[in-house]
Amino acid sequence: MKVKIDGVEKNFRSVWFEDGKLFLIDQTKLPHKFEIFVSDDYRKTAEAIKNMIVRGAPAIGAVGAYGMVQVVKNAEENADNLNEFLDLVRKGSEVLKNTRPTAVNLFHAIDEVLQSVIDHNEVNGSYEIALEVANKIVETTVNSAYRIGVFGEKLIKNGYGISTHCNAGWLACVDWGTALAPIYLAHRNGKNIHVYPDETRPRNQGFLTAWELEQEGVPYTLVIDNDTQHFEDGSVDIVIVGADRIARNGDVANKIGTRQRAIVAKEYGIPFYVAAPLETFDLNAKSGKDIAIEERSVDEILYSRGLNREGSIVSVLSGFEKCKTRNLAFDVTPAKYIEGIITEKGIVNPDEKEILSLFE
Ligand code: MRU
Repeated sequence: MKVKIDGVEKNFRSVWFEDGKLFLIDQTKLPHKFEIFVSDDYRKTAEAIKNMIVRGAPAIGAVGAYGMVQVVKNAEENADNLNEFLDLVRKGSEVLKNTRPTAVNLFHAIDEVLQSVIDHNEVNGSYEIALEVANKIVETTVNSAYRIGVFGEKLIKNGYGISTHCNAGWLACVDWGTALAPIYLAHRNGKNIHVYPDETRPRNQGFLTAWELEQEGVPYTLVIDNDTQHFEDGSVDIVIVGADRIARNGDVANKIGTRQRAIVAKEYGIPFYVAAPLETFDLNAKSGKDIAIEERSVDEILYSRGLNREGSIVSVLSGFEKCKTRNLAFDVTPAKYIEGIITEKGIVNPDEKEILSLFE
């Protein structure tokens, strides 16, 4: 998607890979500074996932795939034989997996590259195979996001107000987005729309959504997390959110606060949709109860980050050091609150039969 830097418009993806190096738009610096983070080592890549330099389920999957390419390079350089090589590749894959537990895209992507290397069963040529598989995963991610946009756009009528939570745009998905892809296409097709992203405390991913919408020229109003006024007063016609993991019964894990949006939407008769690629479904999870919910540092709640008057990004203590709190990063929205799931294969009901039909 397009980004304006110093008045000049340039096309960007949020994740790309060149000559063994991984490039990421640093999402911890946005919306204040546009900086590119570079990693040439899988351990540094794992830290980038943990620290949310890259975030959003499909983007994390892409980075897991390229992180595996770096794992293979490291193993090639340090192993004396095939057994040692495969052992190092497996250990490296664990380092990448042991970063964030909820977004299943990460595990799917890592396992796909790992399996391709195991199947090859030779040190020579493994790097090329890993790179080919990783590139394929990333192209599928981008194509799926676009297809989600095409299907989801049909749900958005001229004049619609759209609520969304967290950031499920191109930053979170390499390109296009999941929840935001239908919005971008509706806007490009000339529909008159207005988007209501919410702040999404404590990491404020809503500001990333607002920044994306600003770049694209889509009209929006950022609201605070507790604001349900725009549901009540008729401003919102549809809610579209992304997902980090979808169980086979249609329960959806997404950024904490998603469930309360879904419950409020139901109360006001507003359709609540989830947009996600097939990579986000976990058929091993029977219901939301089987989904691991990430718990992050309480510092994210106690400290607020922002730009000071001198132009530096700083953290200030909003709470107090001994304040007891808990920072759960995701919640599960039960399928009964969800009108439909927008995928690259079409829109399905959130039930086991329709979900399984996507994988036939
Ligand atoms: O903690 P984050 O910012 O990685 O969480 C992201 C979300 O919850 C998104 O809504 C989800 O990954 C879908 S992104 C297309």
